[in-house]
Amino acid sequence: MPQFPAIRMRRTRSAPWIRNLVRETELSSKDLIWPIFVHEGKEIQDIASMPGVQRLPVSQLSKIAKQAKQSGIPAIAIFPNIDPAKKDLRGTEAANPDNLVCRAIYELKSSCPDMGVIADVALDPFTSTGQDGIVIDGKVDNDQTLEQLVAQSLTQVGAGCDVLAPSDMMDGRIGYIRAALETGGHLDTLILSYAAKYASGFYGPFRDAVGSSSALSGDKKTYQMDPANKDEALREVALDIEEGADMVMVKPGLAYLDIAAQVKQAFGLPTFAYQVSGEYAMIRAAAQNGWIDGDGVMMESLLAFKRAGCDGILTYFAPDAARVLG
Ligand code: PBG
Repeated sequence: MPQFPAIRMRRTRSAPWIRNLVRETELSSKDLIWPIFVHEGKEIQDIASMPGVQRLPVSQLSKIAKQAKQSGIPAIAIFPNIDPAKKDLRGTEAANPDNLVCRAIYELKSSCPDMGVIADVALDPFTSTGQDGIVIDGKVDNDQTLEQLVAQSLTQVGAGCDVLAPSDMMDGRIGYIRAALETGGHLDTLILSYAAKYASGFYGPFRDAVGSSSALSGDKKTYQMDPANKDEALREVALDIEEGADMVMVKPGLAYLDIAAQVKQAFGLPTFAYQVSGEYAMIRAAAQNGWIDGDGVMMESLLAFKRAGCDGILTYFAPDAARVLG
């Protein structure tokens, strides 16, 4: 290895043109998936813990789809804030073909047919317990939940979604859902599995946004992963691939980049990370206080996902990042 002064690392950093030439990673609006919140009301509601993000009425969604399309954002992920009166222990409303999610899917697809629409599969927006599954005798019952997740999946596919994104972390759900899709003739429906999803404090603002935090008693540690574990994440991903996932996700994002990098390296399939609500809120809050440069840190954080090997990022910054990217 040549040594200093033969080597001066600063030479390739000395001017914008050479920095542009040697840059290893590129972020584009094609890498972004835009998560949006919808609610049953007619007005646009601010979400206190997520400045700049709003709960939208379904009537606004054609506008959102057009904005995404114009910005080059390929896909939108829908999260519903369900009327508490419609919640029960089994999350029955999740399988109602006329529920809020289905109406949102329909609105997005009919106003913008070539926009990718992703629907979460999990019961927490619909359960009175705020848990992702059905609670029986104080425990989230895996196998009964699977039945309901399949019903929710088929309902959402019926409404026209392109991608199912199971975020519930029940065992065996990918295989169950894939089998039901094949049997039902939905051969092209994609599954983006939240394969390695951790029991994280970074989800706090999201639970406010969908209104599951007031319902939630206890935590989700019997199904979401222990933040201490890495080998277990690779096993989770391997299982989901075997069961029929087309793409996998790691969640949260920045604090779990090591996991995302290893997943991409080990399996080589399309790998996404979710820059979750708490990550978004921290950057926004610091920027609002003038403590960091908001746009700068936003772009730096998104680039980090690409550098780690992610194919794309679910981020509430999607419209802002697209604006900066021009
Ligand atoms: C629930 C779900 C959560 C998120 C996406 N789907 C929250 C949770 O597991 O409690 C979090 C997203 C975010 O924090 O932005 N199935």
